[in-house]
Amino acid sequence: MAKIVILTGAGISAESGLKTFRDDGGLWEGHRVEDVATPEAFGRNASLVHQFYNQRRRDLAEVAPNAAHRALGALMASSLHEVTIVTQNVDDLHERGGCPSVWHMHGQLLKKRCEWCGAVSDCSEDLSQDDRCSECEQTGGMRPDIVWFGEMPYFLEKIDGVLSDCDLFVAIGTSGAVYPAGNFVNLARLSGARTLELNLVRTDNSGNFDEVREGPASVKVGEWVEEILAD
Ligand code: OAD
Repeated sequence: MAKIVILTGAGISAESGLKTFRDDGGLWEGHRVEDVATPEAFGRNASLVHQFYNQRRRDLAEVAPNAAHRALGALMASSLHEVTIVTQNVDDLHERGGCPSVWHMHGQLLKKRCEWCGAVSDCSEDLSQDDRCSECEQTGGMRPDIVWFGEMPYFLEKIDGVLSDCDLFVAIGTSGAVYPAGNFVNLARLSGARTLELNLVRTDNSGNFDEVREGPASVKVGEWVEEILAD
């Protein structure tokens, strides 16, 4: 039984119809990052930030997991290996694709958090400044439970733990442009793990991997999972 850590990014959800961040037509187009994905933006113009994430939540309801999500679901279900999935994605397509446990290091679109008391709860509806927290009953503090620039990603200690003790690290559909996730490949290599990148094209991070496979996630992930399950 091998210990496998998988890091996914926006590219794994691209074929489901969700935009990536840095490709042509990417999500940030028309929106400067600092206008929608920072605590300062929320302080300055909460209604624009809510509008941006409300639209993303609505988009999420219209899409379905693709073959790559399902292949990872099958890998987990096989229980042949000890698999940890860490995702930078805020969508729920891994869960819907059959992965019961996923570490969402950048938070989740379908969760909301109260800025005042920190209470986190499910969120399938639009958010606004008028929403009242069901715990502390204050208004104006409800926000998507998403890690914005300048905030600390979730699960970092646990992620460090699995990276320091894994046999194989696989990055799928991520540019590696955002830290700390972009550095996970180097941490895994330090611990002696083999490293594999699956991406549509080579990335600025490709040189740090032992092996790079280019092609759409819907094809490449399935091929790789078949190999692993046949091992
Ligand atoms: P990026 O938009 O930076 O990168 C997407 C990657 O997916 C690129 O390397 C593409 O080549 C690849 N890609 C696109 N379509 C693909 C396909 N069909 N199959 C395989 N690969 C494909 O997205 P992330 O790396 O996820 O953070 O971005 C990381 C973080 O930057 C995000 O979580 C977000 C953003 O700022 C926060 O919001 C905190």
